[in-house]
Amino acid sequence: MPATGTFPEIPLFDLRLEPEDIEAVADTLRSGWLTLGPRTQAFEEAFAEQLGARHAVAVSSCTAALHLAYLAAGVGPGDEVIVPSFTMAATASAVLYCGGTPVFADILGRHDLSIDPAEVEARIGPKTKAVCVVHFAGYPGKIAELHELCDRYGLALIEDVAHAPSATVDGRKLGTWGLAGAFSFFSNKILSSGEGGLLATDDDDVAALARSLRSQAMTSGTWSRHTGATSTYDVVGLGFNYRIDELHSALLLSRLARLEADIERRRELTRIYRRELSRIDGLIVPYRDEDVDTSSCYVFPVLVDDPARWEHVRDFLRQERGIQTSLFYPAVHRFSAYVERLGEQSRPKTELASETELTIPMFPHMTAEQQERVVTAFEEALA
Ligand SMILES: Cc1ncc(COP(=O)(O)O)c(C=O)c1O
Repeated sequence: MPATGTFPEIPLFDLRLEPEDIEAVADTLRSGWLTLGPRTQAFEEAFAEQLGARHAVAVSSCTAALHLAYLAAGVGPGDEVIVPSFTMAATASAVLYCGGTPVFADILGRHDLSIDPAEVEARIGPKTKAVCVVHFAGYPGKIAELHELCDRYGLALIEDVAHAPSATVDGRKLGTWGLAGAFSFFSNKILSSGEGGLLATDDDDVAALARSLRSQAMTSGTWSRHTGATSTYDVVGLGFNYRIDELHSALLLSRLARLEADIERRRELTRIYRRELSRIDGLIVPYRDEDVDTSSCYVFPVLVDDPARWEHVRDFLRQERGIQTSLFYPAVHRFSAYVERLGEQSRPKTELASETELTIPMFPHMTAEQQERVVTAFEEALA
């Protein structure tokens, strides 16, 4: 039966908060202190501990965390950072904020949508300062190879971990492999609070720089003056307002306790999708069954083998079956702002993936019936 109304019957993401989350936020509202303060500190400590990193610096977004990470890597005018184009624009835009140039490396292919280390190596030149890996959909990029490559060429490795909290390689969490990891708490992310981000690092200087620059490079913050710990401040650099506030931190701290359980549920859903969707002719299910155990399974990407059928499949799901999908991602190098700055470029594997990818509904409380409807819709669309 055709779907009615504007909202899809099965959305891409759905957020469900528990009473304790709402109480944590209400409690913060009652506390009389709403910006960077003790709740943020508590969240940072809990996050760092869960991640296994020395420092966690909470900020207003992952974009802000990426900007701070690139600055900490010393990226400035004239420098280049190698990034994937198969990502959300922020991975590349934050390089431009520093006055640097993003250099796009192609992905491995439609079975693994992460940046190809051989492509990265081929694009290293005298201006290269850093490499950023995006752990797409929660599946680790080739982190060990990239780590070794960056070491060999003396480059900083930055991890865009927006999709991959708690994902691991060899038992070590993503976001701890390079100079810094940038996490996102945007509304549709696994650990979400509406907006928010975090820079994780083991490097004391990087953490100090991020803490300073997130709040105007002031030597002391408002909370420390409020509590009488300091009375005045100096401004020692060109900082930003990248602060997170206490409401977001309280919500994040409350939700962090359920992060692993949420991811476990996503893995269960992912295994079912993999089993059912891999049987359908004309559909590519990327990654391998064994990758699921170490992925955070943020989203479920599939690729329509034939680019000419992509639009039909998307429209059928949405218009005939009320199922929302999204394209993760249009190629960044093809966006007009990037073509204007960097000219026309070709990254064939990224382009093919961008022309055929569909991200399909997944959220921890998705029901078996909803999942079945998604699978059936694909069978029908590709029959
Ligand atoms: C891969 C990736 N990097 C960076 C970002 C930016 O995150 P934020 O919206 O928290 O700035 C996102 C958000 O969608 C993302 O998916």
